[in-house]
Amino acid sequence: MGMTVAEPASGSASAQSPVRSRRDYPGPPMHAVPGLLRKLWFDRLAMLTDAAREYGDVVKFAMGPKTLYFFNHPDHAKHVLADNAANYHKGIGLAEARRLLLGDGLLTSEDEVWKHQRRIIQPAFRRDRLAGFAGVVTDAGEALKARLSTRVGEVVDLSAEMTRLTMSVLGKSLLSADLSPLRMLGPAFEEAQDRAMFEMVSLGAVPLWLPIPRNLRFRRARGQLEDAVEVLVSGRAHSGGSDGTDLLSLLAGAYAGERDARKRWRVLRDEIVTILLAGHETTASTLSWTWYLLSQHPEAGAAMHAEAMEVLGDRTPGSEDLTRLPYTTTVIQETMRLYPPVWGLTRRSLAADEVGGYPLPADADVMISPYTLHRHPGFWPEPDEFRPERFATATAVTTHRYAYIPFGAGPRVCVGSHLGMMEATLIAAMVARDYRFELAPGARPQPEAMLSLRVRGGLPVRVCRA
Ligand code: HEM
Repeated sequence: MGMTVAEPASGSASAQSPVRSRRDYPGPPMHAVPGLLRKLWFDRLAMLTDAAREYGDVVKFAMGPKTLYFFNHPDHAKHVLADNAANYHKGIGLAEARRLLLGDGLLTSEDEVWKHQRRIIQPAFRRDRLAGFAGVVTDAGEALKARLSTRVGEVVDLSAEMTRLTMSVLGKSLLSADLSPLRMLGPAFEEAQDRAMFEMVSLGAVPLWLPIPRNLRFRRARGQLEDAVEVLVSGRAHSGGSDGTDLLSLLAGAYAGERDARKRWRVLRDEIVTILLAGHETTASTLSWTWYLLSQHPEAGAAMHAEAMEVLGDRTPGSEDLTRLPYTTTVIQETMRLYPPVWGLTRRSLAADEVGGYPLPADADVMISPYTLHRHPGFWPEPDEFRPERFATATAVTTHRYAYIPFGAGPRVCVGSHLGMMEATLIAAMVARDYRFELAPGARPQPEAMLSLRVRGGLPVRVCRA
């Protein structure tokens, strides 16, 4: 993504303090542990935001058997995610999701397995392929607008619509498949994430075989996801695939030599479930929060509408329009600053390290949070305000490159960032040309920090013509 930010740092806390002893870590006292665990389950964002406000850029959460090291300076993010990335594996949340659902897919695999997979998958996201995906995006945008046209004046759950849209784009662009018959995918992923988060917070104390409702719901959801993958893979085996260059073909081709059928199925399953999850929820979250913010800032909505009218007129946009939609682009960037779909990047240290002058033990759980970094008062003036203009010029952002990391950073940076950004921008422009949305009376959307930042309870809005 073309970022309009510049190094070096001009932030508050210096990351280069002298090495301290382990006792020096700032953080909540032991008697705060029960409250912390409650917050970890009910309000992870408040837990991090409050801690950053109270203790600064380095916080140690000692929570009984678990200790979480929270680093909130962009230099810390650079060190952990990029400069010394080789010393870190994926951490809490993702580790549970790996065990429960994602296995060794690209998001959660490590080391040589990850390198091998990234080499296989990357070509599916090449720039020349992306231009071709624009048609898939705008077809889905037209289908969405056709649905909205029958609902003018009514209340719809826009976040469900965004999930439906991004799932459809993902299916047609990367898997050459129509995922619309698989409507249970969205809810199934919700169940699966709920269980992964529960596992994280309960510190693995409730085994999966216990027949409690949460476990039963999870097992059903996981079964549905696996059935869906089977439909996709076997459908491909029969039809012979698309033109042989989409992601599903690349994966099937790469693992065709694997003689052990069970192993072959396992790697394909892990890769496809991962792409289904990583590829749709994040973009749906971006678009949902965009519509929410625009409903609260009608002047920004009007500016986006005006840009779409001027640039697109009656046309359906293409990828060449992306550079002609600068205001819409800044709205998406600012939305991802305030509501980064991936709110927490968790890591586990392999060997002992030093971060921001603090000694970090081996095998330590580390949290870097785009959510708190993006609202760090040392790097962002009026950090909680929605001001798309701050992304309009390089000089408007007087910040550090690692103070804005919606797609992560370093070797594990998002493989789908250009697709996600193109999709969000084109859909936002197409829809804003014809529609605006008013939050339904009484609705108070709140972020829900699961693996991605969802809108708790959906986004009920009244559909209005722009
Ligand atoms: C606005 C949209 C998106 C956002 C904000 C986003 C964000 C991210 C972030 C922050 C990471 C890094 C996670 C970490 O370091 O632990 C990531 C990784 C990943 N994303 Fe995205 N993503 C988006 C769209 C997509 C799309 C459209 C796809 C695929 C179709 C995708 C597939 C992946 C995969 C496979 C990884 C793992 C990459 C690796 O470890 O090599 N993402 N994403």
